[in-house]
Amino acid sequence: SQYQIGVIVGSLRKGSLNRKLADAIVKLAPSAFSFKQLEIGDLPLYNQDDDANQAPAVQRFKGEIVAATGLIFVTPEYNRGVPGVLKNAIDHASRPYGQSAWTNKPAGVLGASVGVIGTAIAQQQLRTILACLDVHTMGLPEAFMHAKSGFFDEAGNIANPDTTKFLQSWMDRYVAWVKQHAA
Ligand code: FNR
Repeated sequence: SQYQIGVIVGSLRKGSLNRKLADAIVKLAPSAFSFKQLEIGDLPLYNQDDDANQAPAVQRFKGEIVAATGLIFVTPEYNRGVPGVLKNAIDHASRPYGQSAWTNKPAGVLGASVGVIGTAIAQQQLRTILACLDVHTMGLPEAFMHAKSGFFDEAGNIANPDTTKFLQSWMDRYVAWVKQHAA
């Protein structure tokens, strides 16, 4: 594909609502876009002592980010913050100093929660973190998904047509955002 997008999910659990949301949203993109979920569950805990000798999983993760035209973050909120596993991954790929993989990537941010404020606080924190890494997050539309029971159907699709319509508009704007950066 012309545009290769790395998708980073901030939850490691099998039944993750955020992974389901990530799987659903990529189906709304045009064929010039391809998507790959980037594994973060195999990264060690970040330790600055290892900067000069990054683990193979870290090198792989960094290579995937560098190769990507753009990124999509789909994350839960843990205790009103960014999940540790996601922050760990972000820190890894930002180092060693001067060799960050993140620089100048266009990105979209979404999140799903069982709670009504739908990851708004975690997403705001994530945007702050990404800003200092020169990751250009699309500002609008914001996507705070309240994934109460019945949000996904049996096949993992978004059950509500209005929600699908909203996510389609999100993806349309994201596609334009990535193209604008690539131009
Ligand atoms: C949560 N959850 C949660 N939800 C929320 O809206 N705000 C929060 O601060 C928290 N805090 C929190 C902490 C921890 C440790 C857990 C495990 C969960 C609930 C959360 O939205 C719910 O478990 C989601 O299903 C998690 O996302 P995944 O794993 O389904 O993608």
